[in-house]
Amino acid sequence: MFDEKIARAKEQGHIVPPRSIIKNEEQIAAIRKSCKINIAVLDYIEEQIHEGMNTAEIDQIVGEMTRSMGGIPAPLHYKGYPYNVCTSVNEQVCHGFPSKDVILKAGDIVNVDASTILDGYFSDSSRMFCIGEISPEKKRLVEVTRECVQMGLREVKPWGFLGDMGQAVHDHAYENGYTVVREIGGHGVGLKFHEEPWVGYNSRRGEEMLMVPGMIFTIEPMLNMGKADIYIDPKNDWEVYTKDGLPSAQWEIMVLVTESGSEVLCW
Ligand code: MF3
Ligand code: CO
Repeated sequence: MFDEKIARAKEQGHIVPPRSIIKNEEQIAAIRKSCKINIAVLDYIEEQIHEGMNTAEIDQIVGEMTRSMGGIPAPLHYKGYPYNVCTSVNEQVCHGFPSKDVILKAGDIVNVDASTILDGYFSDSSRMFCIGEISPEKKRLVEVTRECVQMGLREVKPWGFLGDMGQAVHDHAYENGYTVVREIGGHGVGLKFHEEPWVGYNSRRGEEMLMVPGMIFTIEPMLNMGKADIYIDPKNDWEVYTKDGLPSAQWEIMVLVTESGSEVLCW
């Protein structure tokens, strides 16, 4: 039944998932355990983050807590990435380097993007944190970005298409006057840090990969207050900024396609 449905979709010209990214119950159980650490780490950061803290402290907490729970921070040494976590402040879009020189101040919005390996299984999620009083403009950007993820999530169900999700995210962002970063997207995750499919938000309903039970991927749109264009710091080839210097926000969840809909594995 399952294989037949996939074969039929393929015949009709749709993109279908390779077998290798469809997880079985055992794998899903192991991935859930990894996710538990990721959630606990971000919950703890949520408690600890404050004005005057530097982002190297966040990196240290993430490293220590992940390891104390038996995990390994997945970003560390990933393609040469030099830290345990990404901390992206204000106009930083993603992959911000934690640093003792980046001291959080009132009015900042910060994305903390944590990823864990436990027994070889990967989890990945990120949250926004607002430091002290932030401007109504930044607050709205953070809120709308979160809504985009929720609206995308509503579209995750078996035998739908990733484009259903992508268009929901895209439309909500643009209806609110924001843009969505095009070059960087979500991804399959679980057995590896980054697996197929690549998950963009410029897709259209009915397009992109067929969603089938057992698939796990992230929804992690980056919304910009100004233009969508990004700038990658040539000094390290990692840190991503908005080209126009206006703020950017991102939330990331990891979602499993189930028989009846979806299950959020971490956030
Ligand atoms: N957690 C990021 C993601 O959502 C990955 C960051 S790449 C790293 O895919 F090398 F910085 F870890
Ligand atoms: Co991710």
